Amino acid sequence: MANIIDGKALAKKMQQAIATEVAQLAPKYGRPPGLAVLMVGDNPASAAYVKNKETACQRVGIASFGKHFPMNTTQAELEQVIDDLNNDDRVDGILIQLPLPDHLDAIALLNRLDPDKDADGLHPNNLGRLVRGEEGLRSCTPAGVMELLAEAKIDLSGKKAVVVGRSILVGKPISLMLLEANATVTVAHSRTQDLVAVIREADILIAAIGKPEMITADMVKPDAVVIDVGINRVTDEAGKSKLVGDVDFAGISTVASHLTPVPGGVGPMTVTMLLHNTVWSYKRKFQLD
Ligand SMILES: NC(=O)c1ccc[n+]([C@@H]2O[C@H](COP(=O)([O-])OP(=O)(O)OC[C@H]3O[C@@H](n4cnc5c(N)ncnc54)[C@H](OP(=O)(O)O)[C@@H]3O)[C@@H](O)[C@H]2O)c1
Repeated sequence: MANIIDGKALAKKMQQAIATEVAQLAPKYGRPPGLAVLMVGDNPASAAYVKNKETACQRVGIASFGKHFPMNTTQAELEQVIDDLNNDDRVDGILIQLPLPDHLDAIALLNRLDPDKDADGLHPNNLGRLVRGEEGLRSCTPAGVMELLAEAKIDLSGKKAVVVGRSILVGKPISLMLLEANATVTVAHSRTQDLVAVIREADILIAAIGKPEMITADMVKPDAVVIDVGINRVTDEAGKSKLVGDVDFAGISTVASHLTPVPGGVGPMTVTMLLHNTVWSYKRKFQLD
């Protein structure tokens, strides 16, 4: 049976360390770190994620400057909010909760963020730093995956890593991070030919697809390390709603050497890395001033 990589436990440990650090630094710097999560509209999944992030901020002593805007908020109104937060000395991190409603240009809003407050590492400056292997703010979900692999003491050097998914939020940045850790990386996507053969080569398999339980045990190399980024809401046989990942957890747990659960794997690490990034920006600001 696979070792289950417990994201909830690692998140708890890291959040406790962040809380201790914040409690030490806030009196020294005269204020706590601050994070603003911006949400537009009433997507229930986004609302749940935002609530989670705000609760986590409270737990570790980060001040929340989050704002929830109605569906009909305009691009110009959001630009003004971002400008104000960019200039607000109490705010170290800004996160725009994606997806945004269709009438808004998310890329233009991300580009408007002060790169030093870009808590999800999606501004071109921060993505560019990642490509060049420089220190900087890194996208929370992929950074959380790397923490999980490190916690499980997975040696990545020279290993064949396959990332299924090439989004700017997950697939692309995790591929760059694995490459930086000296893995030999293949990025697969919806146009990949003979996807099963590609997946079967993986010593390290990262699923970031958004298709419930698409990857099954017969596709996975024995003793592979499998990280499931997917979060999919499905209805079970009894008509109850539940969350599942992109891989068949029960089947793959009999084949893989390590596996993350959904929920309780990558999800809690995403929130934790957001807190980490906010504190990183906060410390950097005071150290540079
Ligand atoms: N745990 C967390 O904290 C967290 C954070 C973010 C996202 N997620 C979850 O992670 C999953 C992926 O998110 P995302 O934002 O990266 O999604 P996305 O932007 O929709 O990207 C999905 C990727 O999967 C590829 N894909 C789709 N169907 C495929 C198929 N049949 N075979 C091979 N590749 C296929 C797509 O290929 P093309 O590019 O060719 O279309 C695309 O690159 C979702 O379930 C999301 O909810 C979780």
